[in-house]
Amino acid sequence: MAYTVRIQQASVEFYASEQDNLLDSALQAQLNLPHGCKSGSCGACKCKVVTGDVELTDYSSSALSEDEITDNQVLLCKAHAKSDLILDIPNFSQSFPIKTLPAKIENLTKVGNVAIIQLKLPANQKLAFYPGQYVDLIYNGESRSYSIASAPHQTSLELNIRYRPGGTFSEAVWTQMAVGSIVRIRGPLGNFTLQNSNSPILMVCTGTGFAPIQAILQQMALENNQRAINLVWGNFTANDFYNVEQLKQLSQQLNLQLTLCTDQETEGFYTGLVTQYVEQNFPDLAKSEVYACGNPAMIENLFNLATNKLNLNKANFFSDVFTPTA
Ligand code: FES
Repeated sequence: MAYTVRIQQASVEFYASEQDNLLDSALQAQLNLPHGCKSGSCGACKCKVVTGDVELTDYSSSALSEDEITDNQVLLCKAHAKSDLILDIPNFSQSFPIKTLPAKIENLTKVGNVAIIQLKLPANQKLAFYPGQYVDLIYNGESRSYSIASAPHQTSLELNIRYRPGGTFSEAVWTQMAVGSIVRIRGPLGNFTLQNSNSPILMVCTGTGFAPIQAILQQMALENNQRAINLVWGNFTANDFYNVEQLKQLSQQLNLQLTLCTDQETEGFYTGLVTQYVEQNFPDLAKSEVYACGNPAMIENLFNLATNKLNLNKANFFSDVFTPTA
């Protein structure tokens, strides 16, 4: 059975079945509602049910508290319609249209266990997006989500794909994809973007969580945006970093301090977790915005640390959570 869901702010409607969660139903209807992890852990898809009934499935209590449930708040990625609904979605904006487009691999470079792919869209097609958003990459009938690592003004679309041994999708990327291969992309998706303010910025990422950060930095360089940025990027080893020379060049155009963290002790790198570095070096984040990208555990730890111990206002924490997928 399908129900009608109306977004109060915009008089926009979409249909939702009981089987699909509200976020998936909206995305199928080409509506890019606010979201991040799609797994009930980040809270980015939180909204209020004004009228109607929903059923919530498994979610993290750090993403949705008992008080919020009492206040009729839900997570779109974990809510299923049980009647027609009206939703109050504070950050709703009709972003760029979601498109599914073919793309040709123009360049493919492997650095350690990361494939850096440059995609070229057909000459008569454009993908408008905000730096920090992601696309679904569709190949051989399967799809995975990857942040766009390039800025909108660039002529090709960069994706950073980490190799996961035995993973069907990343195996296909590593063994079958080559320059000239045709894939499809669907997007733009997600709501991880730079806020329009002058607050100091703390960016924290792990692994290929660097991809949306790179896109945001490239856009800031283009605009000669001189907001103060501290970037803390963590990996297991020094060999896991990629695009570092490019990043150092970008930092010369920006007001950016870079710290690279590794688990293994290496000269020139901070040894330890990104959260340890943040705790030791940023005792007061009251005036800052924090942008975090990486695995769910790091994001959750950083959120708890920054908001409970380092004075960060919860509203100034922005995250792009990705759950490792094969
Ligand atoms: S909790 Fe729904 S997208 Fe993260």
